[in-house]
Order: sequence, then structure tokens, then C-alpha cells
Amino acid sequence: MLRRLATARSLRVAAASAAASAAGTLAYTSCDASSWSPASYPLALAPPVVASKPGRLQGRSAIVTGAASGMGAASAKLFAAEGAKVAVVDVNGEGAEKVAADIRAAGGDAIGVACDLTDEAQVKAAVKFIEGTYGPCNALFNHAGGLVVKDFLKISLKEWYGLSTL
Ligand SMILES: NC(=O)c1ccc[n+]([C@@H]2O[C@H](COP(=O)([O-])OP(=O)(O)OC[C@H]3O[C@@H](n4cnc5c(N)ncnc54)[C@H](O)[C@@H]3O)[C@@H](O)[C@H]2O)c1
Repeated sequence: MLRRLATARSLRVAAASAAASAAGTLAYTSCDASSWSPASYPLALAPPVVASKPGRLQGRSAIVTGAASGMGAASAKLFAAEGAKVAVVDVNGEGAEKVAADIRAAGGDAIGVACDLTDEAQVKAAVKFIEGTYGPCNALFNHAGGLVVKDFLKISLKEWYGLSTL
């Protein structure tokens, strides 16, 4: 649903697959594109540090969905470390705000936005709020999702449709 909206608003879809390997909190040490490597983003227990040098996304804004936890949260922090203003979107509004607060505490710019992506009205309201705050968005990382890990025949219809709806 958000993808349709994004297309309508000509949002440029950006994948943050590099962040997908990050299971913990990231500490950022470099944002220089010419010297980028996975080793530039070591895993650490310390809070994320937004790089002092201008990042590759300076002056841009990004929406990251499913960003209250897991790879979405890691990606939101990585976008912020590259200088982007980040809308941290999740059905878990409290978690989204916590991630946004972590980014702000590290010197970045982020807002937490509570939104159930399966509800079109909420998506429209969220995009309106985000673009009202940051202006037209340059990137969308649509990461929200979930897994149902159980025997196929034990998956309920609700779980099955829930997965395909999102
Ligand atoms: N973790 C992995 O190893 C892995 C590997 C391959 C694919 N994936 C896929 O990546 C996606 C996210 O994985 P993760 O490990 O980061 O999971 P996660 O559970 O940590 O994060 C998913 C986030 O999506 C949010 N979310 C769920 N439903 C939502 C909705 N309707 N609206 C808004 N937000 C919603 C959740 O609240 C959660 O914060 C899933 O689709 C998963 O299948 C994960």
C-alpha cells in the first residue's frame, strides 16, 4: 500500500541492504562514500554516533518503515548517520519514537511515526505528517514485515492473510 503511495508521490526507493546485516546497535565511524566498506560500520554496544563529516544523504529525507526494531531500526540509524532526516515509521509507535530519540540523542534528525501500514488512511496521514515536517521525501525503505515460523498446516488463515496483506 505504501509502495503505491510512494510511486504516486514519485518517492525514490532506496534499499539499505548494507544495514540488513546489522543485528545490534551500530556505531558509525565514517560516511565517506569513497572509503565505504562494511568494516566502516562496526557492530558495537555503544549508542549510534552520527558522523561529523557530511554524509551521502545530507539534506535528504527518508522514510523507513518497520523501524522500531531489528533491521529497520538499524537501517534508520544508518540513514541518519549518512545525514538524512529520518521518519521512523512503525505500528509500534512507542518503539518508533524510542529509535527516533536515540538518533536525535546522537546528533541526527528523526521523528517517530505510529502507523499501521495495512490501513490506507493511516498511511496517507503518516505521509502527510512526514512531508509536512521534512518536505517531499527522497527515499523510502519499506521494511515492515513479519514472519510466521511454524508448520505450514498450522498457519491460521488470519496469519496467512496478515503476511500477504503487509
Ligand atoms: N531477520 C532476518 O534474518 C530476516 C531475513 C530475511 C527477511 N526478513 C524480513 O524482514 C522483515 C523485518 O524483519 P526483522 O527481523 O527486522 O523483523 P522485526 O520484527 O524486528 O521488525 C519488523 C518491524 O515491522 C513492524 N511492523 C509489523 N507489522 C507492521 C504494520 N502493519 N505496520 C507497521 N509496522 C509493522 C514491527 O512492529 C517491527 O518493528 C520481515 O518481513 C522479515 O520476514 C528478516
